[in-house]
Amino acid sequence: MTDLRGLLRLPVMAAPMFLVSGPELVIAAARSGIIGAFPTQNCRTADELDAWLSTISAALGDGDQSLPWAVNLVTHRTNVRLADDLALVAKYRPPVVVTALGSPKPALETVHSYGGVVIADVADLTMARKAAVAGADGLACISAGAGGHTGALSPFAFTAAVREFFDGLLVIGGGISDGYGVAGAIAAGADLVYMGTSFLASEESRAVADYKQMVVDSGIDDLIVSAGITGTPASWLRPSLLAHGIDLDTLDVPQERDYRAGGDAVRRWKDLWAAGQGLGAVTDIRRVADIVDTLAEQYQQAAHRLTTSRSLEGTTHA
Ligand SMILES: Cc1cc2nc3c(=O)[nH]c(=O)nc-3n(C[C@H](O)[C@H](O)[C@H](O)COP(=O)(O)O)c2cc1C
Repeated sequence: MTDLRGLLRLPVMAAPMFLVSGPELVIAAARSGIIGAFPTQNCRTADELDAWLSTISAALGDGDQSLPWAVNLVTHRTNVRLADDLALVAKYRPPVVVTALGSPKPALETVHSYGGVVIADVADLTMARKAAVAGADGLACISAGAGGHTGALSPFAFTAAVREFFDGLLVIGGGISDGYGVAGAIAAGADLVYMGTSFLASEESRAVADYKQMVVDSGIDDLIVSAGITGTPASWLRPSLLAHGIDLDTLDVPQERDYRAGGDAVRRWKDLWAAGQGLGAVTDIRRVADIVDTLAEQYQQAAHRLTTSRSLEGTTHA
């Protein structure tokens, strides 16, 4: 199985984002020394997915020689394209497959057959235990502060709890937006950090210009976590909800809503924009390579701080 950490400049994955991550972001991330990823759902058809995968594998190399990249696959039974998408995974052999909204099981045989790694996206300990038992090589633990669908656990508490029963690849995400936080997560026991919001306003992101600008202009107080839009707790940019006349006072009250994926109604993700608590660190629209350079500098500074901080040994407490 691929040793991912050895291939990376920084232990980070640019997390898959619906309607935001495409081949440009994946390729830029991998060339910058982190893992790039996209959800297969960003392609409307299997043919389009075939074209994206072909572009990415041509740019990043094939098989063992490939720079690291990942696809995010919905393994829930409602995904009617799962078999087609898995066939394309077998064809293009992404080094990492992240499974979401279902068991990692359907992807294991295919991905292991070419030496790839399966990471299951989990948002609580019950999901994490189930995915570990199912045989996932890694767990992407989505913690409080994440953009899009979010978890509720602190990343530190989540890491510690998962480490009690899982010694595979532990990926932690949620509100981690600078290299200092990456170093903190690794020091706490994670192997990789999952970062979505930090790349939302990158030049290579497919988010529309107004969305990117809103991420740049907004801070942590501009977020609202609610299950009222998709049925699952997610972190949204409050100004984008207000712009579409959504009443925040009744957002959490169960009611019939029409946030369609298409058509004339307000479309969640497309019109209603998500972001996580790390958005305060996004102050400009930048190239992925420049974002990763900054992360790497901060990571080095944090590592230095850890090794040079005044030793507590011998300190006496009054
Ligand atoms: C706009 C947006 C769209 C997202 N779409 C998906 C998705 O399609 N599939 C998925 O597994 N996670 C999705 N996520 C979650 C990210 O993969 C990741 O868990 C999260 O961004 C990590 O937290 P951070 O945003 O604080 O860095 C999305 C996040 C955002 C901000």
